[in-house]
Amino acid sequence: ALPARVTIWEVGARDGLQNESTVVGVDVKQEFLRRLAAAGLTVLEATSFVSPRWVPQLADAAELLAALPRLPGVRYPVLVPNERGLDRAVEAGVADIAIFASATESFARRNLNRSMDEQFAMFEPVVRRAREAGLRVRGYLSMCFGDPWEGPADPASVTAAGRRLLDLGCEQLSLGDTIGVATPGQVETLLRSFGTAGVPTAQLAVHFHDTYGQALSNTYTALRAGVSTVDSAAGGLGGCPFAGSATGNLATEDLVWMLDGLGIEHGVDLDALVRTSVWMAERLGRPSASRVVTALGGD
Ligand code: HMG
Ligand code: MG
Repeated sequence: ALPARVTIWEVGARDGLQNESTVVGVDVKQEFLRRLAAAGLTVLEATSFVSPRWVPQLADAAELLAALPRLPGVRYPVLVPNERGLDRAVEAGVADIAIFASATESFARRNLNRSMDEQFAMFEPVVRRAREAGLRVRGYLSMCFGDPWEGPADPASVTAAGRRLLDLGCEQLSLGDTIGVATPGQVETLLRSFGTAGVPTAQLAVHFHDTYGQALSNTYTALRAGVSTVDSAAGGLGGCPFAGSATGNLATEDLVWMLDGLGIEHGVDLDALVRTSVWMAERLGRPSASRVVTALGGD
């Protein structure tokens, strides 16, 4: 059965802008997020408190947080890899964090400069301290379906890695197809594997990149399996600087169009969202990757 309502976890400002070669100023980021909130999105992943040497695009995280309007019902989660990041996030007044692990050794090394085991050791005090401080904590798991260096992922080991994040105390687990290679059968298999491991579907979210054009089909498959939190990026922005073959996320507009067609509630005003995407595409100097924006965005 399909869920009656879906929470859209909008990652455009974080996953989207972390991968842009164009330097996007804090004023544009702030305005992007303000417009997304005005379009009805309530979970807006804003930025990352990571090393500015690793991700210079998001070096202005504290400045951005200070500039964002606090709106009732609107959350601004941020990525945090380690205790240094948590300290910075708490200082910036953040209420919501996400840690991000890899399901494979190769990507853990490239994205976090850690082995699989070392990444969990790094996250343990982050989650413990964040929970003690009353923050909400999401766990991302990357490379859940395939990895550029290791090939197709093994559902059993992905499930084991996901369990480790939940056991640390994450309230939600977002399953990432970082390089966009998954197809619906794999999604079905992985979600079944988590179910067998005793993880309630309500704790799972999906995060599909659209490299091979499968993101929307994969999302539909996850909805059919009962998942009701879906990550997407306005205008299909996104990618990971440490996984060369990663391209944009599922476009939020394309997701909203599908949810409308299915009669699933989401709370987003599609026209306002499309206008925001067109506005952002102008700032970035290239057209939106979203098919729905192309169809509706003309004027
Ligand atoms: P490291 O070099 O091993 O870190 O990197 P370190 O602890 O040795 O510290 C090195 C330097 O960085 C030190 O400074 C630290 O102070 C500083 P120095 O003494 O050399 O001047 N530093 C920091 N500064 C600010 N904030 C911090 C911080 N931490 C250390 N938090 C580290 C390890 C984890 C820091 C690094 O690998 C890193 O920042 N990685 C981030 C990678 C990233 O952001 N990737 C993209 C997000 S993941 C993604 O996109 C996937 C996702 O979308 C899901 C999917 O699609 O699958 C979520
Ligand atoms: Mg991503």
